[in-house]
Amino acid sequence: MAAEPILVPEATWWRQSAVYQIYPRSFVDANGDRIGDLRGIISRVPYLAALGIDAVWLSPFYPSALADGGYDVADYRNVDPRIGTLEEFDEMVAALHAEGIRVVVDIVPNHSSNDHPWFQEALKAPKGSAARDRYIFRDGVGPDGGLPPADWQAAFGGLAWEPVGDGQWYLHTFAKEQPDFNWDNREVRDDFLKTLRFWSDRGVDGFRVDVANLLVKDLPATLPSRAELDGMDRDSGTHPLMDRDEVHEVYAEWRAVFNEYNPPRTAVAEAWVDSPVRRAKYAAPGSLGQAFNFDLLTADFDAGQFRRIVTDNLAQSAVTGSSSTWVLSNHDVTRHATRYGLPPLDGRKGVKQGVEWMLAGAPADGVDLALGLARARAATLFLLALPGSTYLYQGEELGLHEVGDIPAEERQDPAYHRSVNQPDWTYDGLGRDGCRVPLPWTATGPSFGFGPDGAHLPQPEWFGKVSVEAQDGDPASTLNLYRGALRLRRVLQGGETLEWTEAADGEVLAFLRPGGWLNITNFGEAPVALPDGELLLASAPVEDGLLPGPATAWLRV
Ligand code: GLC
Repeated sequence: MAAEPILVPEATWWRQSAVYQIYPRSFVDANGDRIGDLRGIISRVPYLAALGIDAVWLSPFYPSALADGGYDVADYRNVDPRIGTLEEFDEMVAALHAEGIRVVVDIVPNHSSNDHPWFQEALKAPKGSAARDRYIFRDGVGPDGGLPPADWQAAFGGLAWEPVGDGQWYLHTFAKEQPDFNWDNREVRDDFLKTLRFWSDRGVDGFRVDVANLLVKDLPATLPSRAELDGMDRDSGTHPLMDRDEVHEVYAEWRAVFNEYNPPRTAVAEAWVDSPVRRAKYAAPGSLGQAFNFDLLTADFDAGQFRRIVTDNLAQSAVTGSSSTWVLSNHDVTRHATRYGLPPLDGRKGVKQGVEWMLAGAPADGVDLALGLARARAATLFLLALPGSTYLYQGEELGLHEVGDIPAEERQDPAYHRSVNQPDWTYDGLGRDGCRVPLPWTATGPSFGFGPDGAHLPQPEWFGKVSVEAQDGDPASTLNLYRGALRLRRVLQGGETLEWTEAADGEVLAFLRPGGWLNITNFGEAPVALPDGELLLASAPVEDGLLPGPATAWLRV
């Protein structure tokens, strides 16, 4: 390929980027405390540059008691001392920028840690005080307020209200160590504007906004019951707890801050809403500008579903003017190489990777690992050929499977511990630790090169065989497939359009991008003939012009 990579104007760098998610605690540990750190990330900048990604997104690295893997933030404008210092953060940003890699950081606005000075102040302050107004306190029911104000369930299981000992209770949508902020409070709003400027001033290029749809709430004096909440419309913008239209007033203020910078800072919303139409509100230019689209992540590996989802989401991004996003894995769901190898759920056709399975963590056995990986490689190439940005999760470039057999006593995820006795709950199962196991860099040695003194979650034996070292020199490895695909994508990526082309049968999807870049994906098992053209890359060996299944090929036509 002789063509030069297309130069992306600075202000639109995010529109078709490949963004690599780093879960800092599990990436590389340089200081030997079994927790990954910024020095570790700095040491792997050459690896990231060679991988060919355009940006990194860092999950939280802020001071935290780790009640929820760092999504319980005690200080929004600092670095956890176990992870590094602000000076090291600056050094990391400079090292990444020197390689042309942008930096996106996670911002967690729905809740703080219970260690946050504001929450500690609220606990000491009386009922009705300004300090309590920054969070959501309510009187309990019954004599002395001994019963919760409502029977709501937290997302990780158990009650969503916690008593503080004086008849009042506070709301926590997630773990009890994560009290929800009151976004009607002006001080809360201003403090987050300060945080956005703090990181933007340090050269951060964008923000990933945690549970962006939950911030603004409207709690009536008489709270609805859990059953009443369940019966309410989530798609109208008027649900008391989620996806309220007023949340976009908050993001309009954020947008004004982002636009103070040149180029404007970007943001991507994590908003698990039910429809592309609701999601588009977060992606609107006056709001956050981009939103995660989890539709492919929750779909089967199925040609019909993939085609419908791509078509619907491209139509929505044409309405907002944003670009679509594509995701198969992140730190909250079972790795897609494993999901795609799970047995059919409840006898349904194919490999239903329903929310039940994903959030439950993969079982230790009953997974067809080879089929899962073949499908994962095919699906990833499909994603990387789509217009829009693709978010990749650390370790998926190694084709990593979920680690299913972490002993209960070593599991850290509150979603596991809070729901283990609640068998009907969403997060029932193994929780999310299986996709957060520290990465294997070397084939042998202590913690497979993660760090000098072990890893904070146990790594399985098989990690050596899939380590970076083991895959580096193997042209057929998943690591080299990602490197090849990301390099080619930079060269091939042009206009943001896609045209479906005639495919041989219902199990094959083919589409053309500007400049003659053809993607063809075989979702079935029978080989299919490739169309005429120059074969650029394939996720499985092509022989006699036949694409095996499941696999994806890229051609120049
Ligand atoms: C988001 C994060 C998840 C976290 C939750 C609460 O969904 O991705 O890891 O547990 O928010 O902050």
